[in-house]
Amino acid sequence: MHNNETAAKLADIAAWRQREAHHQPAWPDTDRLAEDLAYLRSLPPLVFAGEADKLKEEIAAASRAEAFMLMGGDCAESFAESTADRIRGKIRTILQMAVALTYGASVPVVKIGRMAGQYAKPRSRQTEIRDGIELPSYFGDMINGHEFTETARTPDSRRLVEAYQRSAATLNLVRAFTTGGFADLSKVHEWNQGFMRNPAYSRYEALAAEIDRAMRFMKAAKVSDESFRTVDMYVAHEALLLDYEEALTRVDSRTGELYDCSAHMLWIGERTRQLGGAHVDLMSKVRNPIGVKLGPTTAPEDAIALIDRLNPEGEEGRLTFITRMGAERIIAVLPPIVEAVKADGRPVTWVTDPMHGNTISAENGYKTRKMSAILKEIRGFFAVHESLGTHPGGMHVELTGDDVTEVLGGSEEISVEGLADRYETLVDPRLNHQQSLEMAFLVAEALRDIQL
Ligand code: PEP
Ligand code: CO
Repeated sequence: MHNNETAAKLADIAAWRQREAHHQPAWPDTDRLAEDLAYLRSLPPLVFAGEADKLKEEIAAASRAEAFMLMGGDCAESFAESTADRIRGKIRTILQMAVALTYGASVPVVKIGRMAGQYAKPRSRQTEIRDGIELPSYFGDMINGHEFTETARTPDSRRLVEAYQRSAATLNLVRAFTTGGFADLSKVHEWNQGFMRNPAYSRYEALAAEIDRAMRFMKAAKVSDESFRTVDMYVAHEALLLDYEEALTRVDSRTGELYDCSAHMLWIGERTRQLGGAHVDLMSKVRNPIGVKLGPTTAPEDAIALIDRLNPEGEEGRLTFITRMGAERIIAVLPPIVEAVKADGRPVTWVTDPMHGNTISAENGYKTRKMSAILKEIRGFFAVHESLGTHPGGMHVELTGDDVTEVLGGSEEISVEGLADRYETLVDPRLNHQQSLEMAFLVAEALRDIQL
């Protein structure tokens, strides 16, 4: 490709600046911002275009029911918690869930961490008032600090650079853990057996025993494959902060195409998916696989218009719709959207986010979710796709590898009073390690009984 063509492409990615961009921070020091963005542009990409293409192929397989996507991680990562232990815990949880799901679905599970870049949040209120003091809301560690002081809450663009560095370090651990023996299938299976020894989960013993038998069969048959020892794990985050995403967008030297090299996959949030808006514009210019969150007010025409903007040619694997309708509404609101997309014919991959339509306030003020509602939305998602003859392509959940108490329910019942024990999330409530595994076993059972 000629240099002037490349220059024109790069100039075109700045076109989002002419459009309305919701949920962007009010940086107090714009000179500093310009310097930080110039520095980010000089840094190496975090992921390579070829990796994003490989993920796109795997997502395409999920759209054809030949794979199942599992996206999971914190609502918002924090700098303080980007430690080896916490990151390892999340990876381990995702790997354990994936083993159960692989068995249940009998297809490969595409593992995508909601990590290494999930540092910015859209907030419903711009400011927060405590004891008569009003300060900017917490917008994620990439923008400001969580502590309720004027210094911490003032947006500081140096945080963009720290977000890049933390993402690079996180991604390095993801790559090391998934190729360095930690992901060995028999080891992950042993962890799952450990989980099963807890009497609270005895109802999953039958499925665990089936998996165990399959493992022993493979061992006896001397089936050995490199893929049992290493796994591919990808990363994704919400493409919210457009200055950051633009600075990490690079020209692929192989093809001359643009890729947002901050993550393999990016998604557009429910609050920033306006058709004429800046987020859709920027994401329409890069070649990564893209997700869009669809909430209960989505009109079928909106879904088609998003396909027109983000995947006009109908490339397989390019576009994933991540639906988050709410357990009580999914059965009513999802079918017309799926029907319209099915009639359109251009491929999308359908993923359920059973978390964001089911957030409630407990009597004692904690923002929480009920495990029962989360499971009900997943069942509704499967039921809708089964009735329309479309494929449920995966799930997207907020989870942590730790023993937190943020979501109500589960076999080791977390009660409203119990929420206070270990409520650590900075934004939305996450499934803890046990709840995540329990959900994976339940979904694995459901997948075993349906035709993807
Ligand atoms: C999120 O994924 O944390 C989020 C804000 O979701 P949504 O855009 O679906 O509300
Ligand atoms: Co969230």
